[in-house]
Amino acid sequence: MSIVIHSLEINARRIQSDLDELSRISDCELPCVTRILWTEKDMEARSWLKRKMKDAGLVVREDAVGNIFGRLDAETNDDAAIATGSHNDAIPYSGMYDGTVGVLGGLEALRAIGEYLAKSGNSLSKSIDLIMFTAEEPTRFGIGCLGSRLMAGTLSPEQARLLKDSAGEALDSIRNRANYIGELANVKLNKNFYDAFVELHIEQGPLLEAAGVQIGIVTAIAAPSSLRVKFEGPGGHAGAVLMKDRSDPLIPAAKLILEIHDAAHELGGDDTVATTGVVKVHPGAINSIPREVVLEIDIRDIDMERRGQVLARVQEKAQAFGDAAKTPAHIEWINADPPATCDSKILDTIQKVCDKFEFSSQKMISRAYHDSLFMAQICPTAMIFIPCRNGISHRPEEYASPESIEVGVKTLAATLLELAQVYE
Ligand code: GLV
Ligand code: MN
Ligand code: MN
Repeated sequence: MSIVIHSLEINARRIQSDLDELSRISDCELPCVTRILWTEKDMEARSWLKRKMKDAGLVVREDAVGNIFGRLDAETNDDAAIATGSHNDAIPYSGMYDGTVGVLGGLEALRAIGEYLAKSGNSLSKSIDLIMFTAEEPTRFGIGCLGSRLMAGTLSPEQARLLKDSAGEALDSIRNRANYIGELANVKLNKNFYDAFVELHIEQGPLLEAAGVQIGIVTAIAAPSSLRVKFEGPGGHAGAVLMKDRSDPLIPAAKLILEIHDAAHELGGDDTVATTGVVKVHPGAINSIPREVVLEIDIRDIDMERRGQVLARVQEKAQAFGDAAKTPAHIEWINADPPATCDSKILDTIQKVCDKFEFSSQKMISRAYHDSLFMAQICPTAMIFIPCRNGISHRPEEYASPESIEVGVKTLAATLLELAQVYE
């Protein structure tokens, strides 16, 4: 390694205090955290982060969809850069570590690098950006990784403009109200705009903790897909319409929910997962036969072919159940993304950093998706995982210890410093 990584000083207390502060900017009471795109709390959290970035000496900019960039400038003439980052949004009633460890841990890594450079008199040969990606979580618009999809060009501005939230309001209208008024087309970055991207994240699974390993070196990210299925019927009075005369869309929806679960078990392998996380029943009155039922379904695998088989069965059964109940199914694809493979050179760097610090490490895949899935489409990308208690995530009980976070941030900071090639 070309750098003296032991002189990087990470302030674990500062990270914890940042995480605690951010956890209080939320739409529910701790230990629950809810922070949904462009709500008042999300806007407050954005201002808070930009202040923190500026206090750390970073040069801050935002793009038209609200991705926030804080740059530790290399002060060289060329604009070569690497980046780290994650997300600060939080799904309803979740915890305080998902995404935030990568943003605030990334912030601490840049502070430590800045302090090291000031002390040593060394300089960076590449700038380092800390990115807070907009809406990694799909809560508001139904699609995950909104900011990084637009950045990678996987989602076009035209497709983004068609997105609506559950109240039916279009993305542009909500975006403009939040004071993001630039052209969405400008969010896209050129391929290799960054020489490298590294994301720090909690594992969101139980493997590292069970093995007593400090660092997960992520080699691949599983492929997510999601779809919306709507069944429609005539509705009617719960007392007056006889059973023989009904076309109740909740019946095929209920059958489909069971089918989704069974299809993942029967056609899938250990890495196949299928979830119906949203069920909307309209009009939602106890004495009214439903008129419309919408299911939002999330199906993932590391094996695209196997995921395809599960998706095909779900589509086929949705049509069959809908037709049988005389409540036709309308299927809308939200996303069907390929998996990502992490960059072997960055993985080697992370491995060397772990060895040098004597941190135990293991290679693993990520079953959750991350902004890295899309960054990998435009630049060499890798992820660093740290253990979280009992593998719990997307729940208020989510927890990562200050010690684990410190180890993760040290690994991130040293990796970034190595990738940014310090010179004297
Ligand atoms: C990210 O939050 C995911 O659902 O994998
Ligand atoms: Mn999440
Ligand atoms: Mn996350």
